[in-house]
Amino acid sequence: MNPQLFKNLFAKSARDRRLRYFTSISLSVFLIYFVLLARRSETYNDVLQAVASSHKLSSSSPSSPSSILDNHPVTRLVQDARLEFKKKLGKQSLTLEQAANRYRERRGRHPPPGFDTWFRIAQEKNAIIVEDFFDRIYHDINPFWAFNPLELRRMIRGQLQYIHIRDGQAWYETDDIEHRQPWVQRWTELVQEMMPHLPDLDMVLNIMDETRVSVPYEKMSEYVTQEKQMRSLFPPEEATIDYTGYDDNDGVTSYDPGWVRTEADKYWDHYRVTCPPNAPGRNISSLPTFDTPIDSMYPIGPMPFAPEGFVQNFTAASDPCLQPHLRGMHGTFIESVSMATTHDLYPIFGGCKLPGNNDILIPGGMLLDSYDLFSGGDSHGGAWSKKKTGLIWRGVASGGRNTAKNWWRFQRHRFVQMMNGTAVTLAEQGGDAVFTFKLSNVDSYKVQARLDGRLGQWLDEFSDAGFTDLNCYPLEKGGTCIYTSPHMKVMEAMPMKRQYNYKFLPDVDGNSYSARFRAFLRSTSMPLKATIYSEWHDDRLVPWAHFAPMDNTFSDTYAVLEYFMEHDEIAQRIAEEGREWAEKAMRREDMMLYVWRLLLEYARVVDPKRDRLAFVGDLVG
Ligand SMILES: *[C@@H]1O[C@H](CO)[C@@H](O)[C@H](O)[C@H]1NC(C)=O
Ligand SMILES: *[C@@H]1O[C@H](CO)[C@@H](O)[C@H](O)[C@H]1NC(C)=O
Ligand SMILES: *[C@@H]1O[C@H](CO)[C@@H](O)[C@H](O)[C@H]1NC(C)=O
Repeated sequence: MNPQLFKNLFAKSARDRRLRYFTSISLSVFLIYFVLLARRSETYNDVLQAVASSHKLSSSSPSSPSSILDNHPVTRLVQDARLEFKKKLGKQSLTLEQAANRYRERRGRHPPPGFDTWFRIAQEKNAIIVEDFFDRIYHDINPFWAFNPLELRRMIRGQLQYIHIRDGQAWYETDDIEHRQPWVQRWTELVQEMMPHLPDLDMVLNIMDETRVSVPYEKMSEYVTQEKQMRSLFPPEEATIDYTGYDDNDGVTSYDPGWVRTEADKYWDHYRVTCPPNAPGRNISSLPTFDTPIDSMYPIGPMPFAPEGFVQNFTAASDPCLQPHLRGMHGTFIESVSMATTHDLYPIFGGCKLPGNNDILIPGGMLLDSYDLFSGGDSHGGAWSKKKTGLIWRGVASGGRNTAKNWWRFQRHRFVQMMNGTAVTLAEQGGDAVFTFKLSNVDSYKVQARLDGRLGQWLDEFSDAGFTDLNCYPLEKGGTCIYTSPHMKVMEAMPMKRQYNYKFLPDVDGNSYSARFRAFLRSTSMPLKATIYSEWHDDRLVPWAHFAPMDNTFSDTYAVLEYFMEHDEIAQRIAEEGREWAEKAMRREDMMLYVWRLLLEYARVVDPKRDRLAFVGDLVG
């Protein structure tokens, strides 16, 4: 924005402004309409072409009933997703002025000091800058505007895990360095890449798998409202770029955030206070016992986020408040391995959270680690056409503390058994094994193998899912387990690189988020994902364009797999575009740039001068 335009914003008479506003709005609406029209038909043609050529390719094999121009709900979801993604990309900022302008439009404030350097480095690193990709930062940081900044600085004293920044140097503080995963170190290395461009600050880090902060919905609404009222695009001459230094000798050494550490089997009750009052989950208590069959747990009828049986709104599909059945179908709510949660807003940074949690998101420590378990090293998988038309999953039976009295309710156990042809055949025959799932009605998804009563056999043809460790409680050597071994086999681990030889890579939550999703996206295979966890990248990925979403009950999974096996070219395009996009927007550089911007906002909100801390360089010329 040039200085003249900015002056106009303040100086022009209201009538004048309104006129300009309406003229430009109607012009834009007109333009957008035509652009969308053109794009819609283009996208639509792309899909038709993909479907048509998949038909051509498969017409030699009569077993593939792929039909041209089909009206399958997934075909439409894929089309809509591609359109949505194109729209997002269309909003890319190419200059500092554009970026700062879009910031002001979307955030109602001036950008923080240092925004210009951030933008310059982002450009040097060929980052794709779309303001919407950073929405998460504001969702996480805005509530803290309702707090006194000096109080926020005091609130974080006396914790165990930190990154400190003073005078352009970053270092960490941790306890028990011998026995801990090196996430604090990985995060610190990331922050060091931004030096010396960050102001002084202290970050408290969450190194637990479990998330930490669950503020009641009503209290959060108050904070968010207060923040909105404090927004201001004050005149540029009032701005300052000098952050206030920390007073490390103010005598404050401790603060009690009120961690609740008991009741790991009642986390649902601690969580549901974050749900809006009218959400289905808000008034429903934790289950008194988990030692009952799972089938009574299933929701009745299609979920609102999947009106045609397939996930249409992935955000809603990941939201436990909308799905109280998940209190008995996800390890997080059954029994977490450890728990330390608070109902007061508290600034703590971590790699994931449930949608209602108030932790501040940064990329998970495991994503920053380069070892093969989660990254597959430099391997990005071979060409789609060389891959096996099969599904592979290997992992540990995590998700929480599974015991003889609750294990059949855990999401990973459910997934592994649902992908096990032998077990599914038993279920089809009405056998009396311990089942972690309920087969949906024969005709609800019209999966052919299910209609034919040979779902288990069908799975046997392509599915290979199993635990490498049953994660027993109490622990057993060799990964076996007295209560789950009769139902589940301990399998050899398989390096990621070899998993990439399969077309379908499902991803299921563990104790919290699943760290391999990013690697899966970069593998040229097609990831399928169900989760209740939010991560830093959510605003930059489009479900059905970059991966296939699944419902957390997995009731839709057979139908999703059947669809993609019959629409190989569509699966291929998701796999390839997912990889391409992850290579452009989920690189280490992108994680660094995300955290950099987050820390500029964090440093500002805990600064006593925050009301005037701003980047206005683009306005004053
Ligand atoms: C939950 O309870 C509160 C207070 O009793 C009530 O206002 C609200 O409508 C209830 N919500 C639902 C979804 O039943
Ligand atoms: C998807 O669901 C979320 C959470 O319930 C909601 O806020 C959002 O508006 C929904 N998006 C669409 C496109 O309906
Ligand atoms: C599959 O199910 C059968 C029957 O319950 C079981 O014996 C077998 O160990 C399972 N396989 C895996 C890989 O879990």
